[in-house]
Amino acid sequence: MNNCTVQPALHVRGDISVPGDKSISHRAVMLGALGKGVTVVRGFLRGEDTFSTLNAFRTMGVGAREDAGALFIDGKGMNGLEEPSDVLDCGNSGTSMRLMTGLLAGQKFFSVLTGDRYLRNRPMGRVIEPLGRMGAKIWGRCGGAKAPLAVQGTPLKGTSYASPVASAQVKSALLLAGLFAEGDTVVTEPSLSRDHSERMLRYFGADVEQLSSGARIRGGGSLEAREVLVPGDISSAAFFIVAALVVPGSELLIRGVGTNPTRTGIIDIMLQMGASLELSNEREVCGEPVADILVRSSRLKGIEIGGELVPRAIDEFPAICIAAACAEGKTILRDAKELRVKETDRIAAMAANLSKAGITVIETEDGLEITGSERLSACSVDSFGDHRIAMSMMVAGLVSDSGIQVSDIGCIETSFPGFAELLEKVACR
Ligand code: S3P
Repeated sequence: MNNCTVQPALHVRGDISVPGDKSISHRAVMLGALGKGVTVVRGFLRGEDTFSTLNAFRTMGVGAREDAGALFIDGKGMNGLEEPSDVLDCGNSGTSMRLMTGLLAGQKFFSVLTGDRYLRNRPMGRVIEPLGRMGAKIWGRCGGAKAPLAVQGTPLKGTSYASPVASAQVKSALLLAGLFAEGDTVVTEPSLSRDHSERMLRYFGADVEQLSSGARIRGGGSLEAREVLVPGDISSAAFFIVAALVVPGSELLIRGVGTNPTRTGIIDIMLQMGASLELSNEREVCGEPVADILVRSSRLKGIEIGGELVPRAIDEFPAICIAAACAEGKTILRDAKELRVKETDRIAAMAANLSKAGITVIETEDGLEITGSERLSACSVDSFGDHRIAMSMMVAGLVSDSGIQVSDIGCIETSFPGFAELLEKVACR
């Protein structure tokens, strides 16, 4: 259990970049493993979550080596994965578990997936149920609702599935199963979740069509090895965006951030709150939009957030809660019930932590109401084993009266190695 106390800062200043996008890094390993030839991944996130995916593919006979800052994956082709001789450990990573369950459902072998105590408590029925419609044979604890999961690979048939949740993990699990299925697989969702799978599948040569709310894939194709340049993760940049907005006199340039429109809810929400954010050097890299983001401290005001903005900022709400706690007036978040089934219940966790910092917070079934304040009180809070809760409360420390102590911050290694050091580097005292 390691703890960390973040002291108040006078300003946040610097010119930084953040580690590679987690979602894109996972997908690069998965598609690289299935491609024909050697896939080179530059900017791969060296976090515990993405190493869980990489290690799982190594257990299935995929060669991978890091050299001169790049990851080289020896693709095995569509039928080249080997039956894993051990359980595949997904650690804390929902993306590893849900996407691999889809991918493994259509293989010619048996596999078992497990994870840490947080992941073993997260809902898996949302992928197992629709995969079952394709003919998949998957078993899990609690009647198939929870991991460990056992997957007996079997021939699959394409399906048309209207997902009740806007979830890229559900959509991607079905698309990866659809790659191995007979015929077409179509997934639609209530509003569009991140579309990295669709973009990368197309980049690797799959027959994928993007729909206004979902995607279609044709089964039976093959993938070609590619070079993937992974942009900075906007979900990691979010903590620095909020830090620079709420600490007075700040100016921070964050270079090379992925700005896929299915992920830029944080930018839209901050702009609505009155943020000074400028995007420059906008370009496209390997099918993904990328930009530099200049952030200047701003007087934020409370707003109402709901609807299609929620999936576009789904991982950023812990950071957005800190912006709301520093804004003038009340911020109301609704339609965000999904936050209750993330790495922890993020609605309950942020309500508990902000209350300790002296903020008036009301927890609702599907969101939060946060009344902003001039300054946060010194306090000790818990990460609840969730990397994004830990990082958001460390950012809160920068605007506290005399520091915030966050316990159990080891979880930050899942997505952002070096976070504490980078935060200290940009914080002027
Ligand atoms: C992810 C999708 C999101 C997100 C998670 C990563 C992905 O989950 O919260 O951190 O890489 O597909 P859901 O799709 O379940 O909302």
